[in-house]
Amino acid sequence: MNDVTPVTEAQKIKPVPTLPDAQTVTEVKHWTDRLFSFRCTRPASMRFRSGEFVMIGLMGGPDPKTGKQKPLLRAYSIASPSWDEELEFYSIKVQDGPLTSKLQHIQPGDEIILRPKPVGTLVHDALLPGKRIWFFATGTGFAPFASLLRDPQTYEDYDEVIITHTCREAGELVYGAELIEGIKNDELLRELIGDENLAKLKYYPTTTREESPKMGRITDLMRSGEAFTDLGVEPLNPETDRAMICGNLAFNLELKEMLEDYGLEEGANSDPKHYVVEKAFLD
Ligand SMILES: Cc1cc2nc3c(=O)[nH]c(=O)nc-3n(C[C@H](O)[C@H](O)[C@H](O)COP(=O)(O)OP(=O)(O)OC[C@H]3O[C@@H](n4cnc5c(N)ncnc54)[C@H](O)[C@@H]3O)c2cc1C
Ligand SMILES: NC(=O)c1ccc[n+]([C@@H]2O[C@H](COP(=O)([O-])OP(=O)(O)OC[C@H]3O[C@@H](n4cnc5c(N)ncnc54)[C@H](OP(=O)(O)O)[C@@H]3O)[C@@H](O)[C@H]2O)c1
Repeated sequence: MNDVTPVTEAQKIKPVPTLPDAQTVTEVKHWTDRLFSFRCTRPASMRFRSGEFVMIGLMGGPDPKTGKQKPLLRAYSIASPSWDEELEFYSIKVQDGPLTSKLQHIQPGDEIILRPKPVGTLVHDALLPGKRIWFFATGTGFAPFASLLRDPQTYEDYDEVIITHTCREAGELVYGAELIEGIKNDELLRELIGDENLAKLKYYPTTTREESPKMGRITDLMRSGEAFTDLGVEPLNPETDRAMICGNLAFNLELKEMLEDYGLEEGANSDPKHYVVEKAFLD
């Protein structure tokens, strides 16, 4: 699928770029007062592996001394799969955040800066072959999995695909819930992935601070065994299970320790093993 030339309608009509590495925003959706997603054009030559991240941003204000403008860039997981002709991002809105206080106001037709150098550890290449893959996310840590869940390779490589998403409030689960619903109902995705493969997908959303059908941190639900009972699966085993983790630092560290206790070892692009981790944000 990677040889599809990513030329979109928006690219065809886009004005001459005014920013370095400029891409044009094609769609913006606001999910809560703290979360939004957007799509933009994809550089024609940009290839990436589902799960990787890039640096994106906007031009910053003029430097008070030199008057020069510098790009204000941040790491963002690409939420769209590698075959998609456009790029999608799922973003926090930090009210006093240097980038997202401005980025949250983008509209279709606006330009963003995108450095087309994708990197990251949440890629299939960093894991040894296995039977079951777990994607563990909190908050915007869902973004790389939004990419991997729409990649046919995920279903070709594993017999079972389990995605867990823990957020404080129910509204913060909606982007993920709609995406999963979309995968099961979208004709293109169903054709691409196959109904038989889609039956491998299990979704386990939980909230911690607002009532929802399943409450609790995924770590606690695994420790008590409740998550495995709910999902109807056996606990993790290094022989069969592979995992990717993306969330806040405390979550990543706690889950990493739990996976090590199950006997799983951390892998990397250069040294594939049983699980990989990436931060959803820096602190
Ligand atoms: C590898 C990597 C991938 C990332 N991918 C994404 C992504 O896909 N989507 C995304 O929204 N952010 C992502 N981030 C975080 C992103 O780089 C920025 O931090 C974020 O966009 C806020 O930028 P800012 O300049 O507004 O505020 P910053 O100055 O960057 O952050 C201000 C504070 O806001 C909080 N914060 C920052 N990002 C988040 C977040 N995502 N969720 C909750 N709290 C946060 C932190 O407490 C941080 O100290 C990623 C970070 C890393 C390291
Ligand atoms: N989400 C909001 O409504 C909100 C509103 C205003 C400001 N903020 C601020 O924004 C920042 C990020 O908030 P966020 O909600 O996006 O992300 P977060 O604080 O990282 O929490 C996301 C989810 O991860 C869970 N979690 C945290 N540590 C964990 C661990 N060690 N193991 C398992 N699960 C763990 C949280 O559960 P717990 O709830 O049990 O911690 C929550 O359900 C924070 O500084 C926060 O103060 C958030």
